[in-house]
Amino acid sequence: MMTIGHRELGQALKQSETSGYDEAWSMPKSYYTDENVLALERDHLFAREWICVGRVEEVPKPGDYMVFVLCNEPIIVVRGEDNTIRAMSNVCRHRGALLAEGRGNNKRLVCPYHHWSYDLEGKLAGAPRMEAHKNFDRSNCRLPQFATEEWNGFLFVCLAEGAPPLAPRLAPLAKLIHNYHVEQMKVLYVADEVWETNWKCLIENFMEGYHLSPLHKTTLHLVNPTRLCSHLPAGESYFGYNAGYSPDLPRSQKGHPDLTDAEADNCVMFAIPPGLVSGIGGDYSSFICIQPETASRVRAKLGLIFYGEDWPQAAVDHAVTLFNATMAEDKAVLVDLMRGMASSHHARGPLAPADFEGPVLDFYRFYSKRLSPVLSAT
Ligand code: FES
Ligand SMILES: [Fe+2]
Repeated sequence: MMTIGHRELGQALKQSETSGYDEAWSMPKSYYTDENVLALERDHLFAREWICVGRVEEVPKPGDYMVFVLCNEPIIVVRGEDNTIRAMSNVCRHRGALLAEGRGNNKRLVCPYHHWSYDLEGKLAGAPRMEAHKNFDRSNCRLPQFATEEWNGFLFVCLAEGAPPLAPRLAPLAKLIHNYHVEQMKVLYVADEVWETNWKCLIENFMEGYHLSPLHKTTLHLVNPTRLCSHLPAGESYFGYNAGYSPDLPRSQKGHPDLTDAEADNCVMFAIPPGLVSGIGGDYSSFICIQPETASRVRAKLGLIFYGEDWPQAAVDHAVTLFNATMAEDKAVLVDLMRGMASSHHARGPLAPADFEGPVLDFYRFYSKRLSPVLSAT
């Protein structure tokens, strides 16, 4: 039966589909705090949409692997001898131990518990002392595999079978970022973190420029001030904004030669919901892969990717320091936000104009199209 909280949320979401950017309001607290809402999101968003698990160059050589937890589903991403990247279940077919942790390189995936092993395509390669078993068909034993798609160097996985490809829905975004040549950028920094906030708060925060100058006044404001933000028209499976680089800084010369001056002066901030946000700059770019753990806790895989080979360590360190300082400010304010939302005096608030908070409304609309029908049926 629909609760009062869900009814209010359903109405607010439906409103977001038709309200203009100059009349939009934020969501009620149940959107961010209700574990029942998260359960619906797992089933209807994370288990159905294409989810970014990182970058293809994180597994550059045959045998390279990395693990990821998608929607409570342990996954291992492995590059095979045939150079194909596969996403497979990271759960042993014997009694269910996790096959791998973190990242590494191996010719076989060997379960630490009883040493069953699998080849890089997920087929059982060895099962010690199991010959005597009468009805275990080892030739058909393999790790379940999930669909993968590569887009501009980002690797997406979809748990649902038969999902339509992602790239056609991202075509206008691909055009916008084409000259940055993100597919040639390489990860030089990656970190797994846990943030004590709702996963949607993390996306909203990354995707609005309204807070850049006030919250980040000694960090990001000096690079991407709020006044230089402008809204991008949203697509079916993405939304975003432009964050202009401050003219007080020298223009970076490190980006791809295809970049126009206007592109070199701009960072394209976009989300491919529900699992990826990214900021594409000419010289280097940032991304966060987002997976909810609870309604108030989210796993975030944060990375910086750089264009070109000749990056001195000091320049990389400088970028990482700025990124981490900025993220620390975001992380702290998002903890406070959850405290504020727990208050009995929390109320929905008006959103700032499209250039500053338009992507927040775009995200509500994306969400509403998928979840409103489900919420109204609960
Ligand atoms: S659970 Fe993996 S070998 Fe036993
Ligand atoms: Fe921020």
